[in-house]
Amino acid sequence: MATVNPNYENLQGSYLFANIARKVEAFKESHPEADIIRLGIGDVTRPLVPAVIEAIHAAVEEMGSADTFRGYGPEQGYDFLRNAIAEGDYAPLGITIQPDEIFVSDGAKSDVGNIQEIFSENNIIAITDPVYPVYLDSNVMGGRTGKAINGIYEKVVYLPTNAENNFSPAFPKERVDIVYLCCPNNPTGTVLSRARLAEWVQWCKDNEAILMFDSAYEAFITSTDTVRSIYEIEGAREVAIEFRSFSKTAGFTGTRCAYTVVPHEVTAKNAEGKRVPLNPMWNRRQTTKFNGVPYIIQRGAAAVYTPEGRAQIKEHIAYYMENARIIREGLEAIGLTVFGGVDAPYIWIQAPAGMSSWDLFDTLLEKVHIVSTPGSGFGPEGEGYLRLTAFGSRENTIRAVDRIKTLQF
Ligand code: MLT
Repeated sequence: MATVNPNYENLQGSYLFANIARKVEAFKESHPEADIIRLGIGDVTRPLVPAVIEAIHAAVEEMGSADTFRGYGPEQGYDFLRNAIAEGDYAPLGITIQPDEIFVSDGAKSDVGNIQEIFSENNIIAITDPVYPVYLDSNVMGGRTGKAINGIYEKVVYLPTNAENNFSPAFPKERVDIVYLCCPNNPTGTVLSRARLAEWVQWCKDNEAILMFDSAYEAFITSTDTVRSIYEIEGAREVAIEFRSFSKTAGFTGTRCAYTVVPHEVTAKNAEGKRVPLNPMWNRRQTTKFNGVPYIIQRGAAAVYTPEGRAQIKEHIAYYMENARIIREGLEAIGLTVFGGVDAPYIWIQAPAGMSSWDLFDTLLEKVHIVSTPGSGFGPEGEGYLRLTAFGSRENTIRAVDRIKTLQF
């Protein structure tokens, strides 16, 4: 008889955002009149910009004509997009990334979830706490975590990240082989300084660890003391894999396009202790299990790098960051302690004394009909916090803040 992957039995509950969606649906059913404002999952609300839409339309036309029609594309992405990424995202930072180090995909979530497959089950992973749940859950599925005891996985190294350490976790004290860092951070909306990231790169080199660097939110950075790419740090090419996405930057959450950079220099040891490059391994994984992002979508993504595309997207990012300011300042005005929202479209709110994350979530949903994300859903250290996203419409953001201001905490 077939047997299931036993690691799945080590997963806790259901995926956070699916869980919240179910809760909200149940509330809607019992309160059909409620005018619900969704500031929970980080899903964008601005439409795709005209430059992207035009490129997609043109690509649709190409697909309708025998002489320009395309079937299977390269699994790693078309050269036109890989070149545009190298030239558009990295060259301006003074970084040289070869197009064959860039793997275009259908999402950073898929890539951060799938990348663990090329590592042995024996690797010890370190995650920040709180954390974007995909890093952890995909490693649970991969058998690297052991069982959860009171919400803590036995084999995972948790790096508490909180107001006390200024959202900059300490280095692990024990052996770690793979470290996940998200900067700007989801869920806390905070960033790590350039100097601290340089120390992390050095730590990974000294400890022969791989750094999984998720920079899906880099477009929202306004501070100068952080990096847009980990490859701004000397030596990072030897230890870091970087994940980027068009989802939040260019409104592709429904359209799906992202990419992962695996530099030629980044290596890990095989069973004989010999260093092997990860780039060909990831290439092998992708060519076996993935058929690439649709041509039409890749054309849309490439339009992000045109002068018109850049200007239009900049406006959307400014729009969301103005929402972030409205939320941050509005909540501070009623005495709440908030973090983030300066370099990222997330605001991390400290629950008033005595309230848990879910207490505050329920209060917002039931009393003022706002969907948020409870901090505890991102890990034990997230308890007592709540996340709001700045990706709503301006109107809903203002209405939501006004409604929260009516609450007596
Ligand atoms: C979030 O709300 O944390 C994000 O939307 C999740 C994601 O990008 O997958």
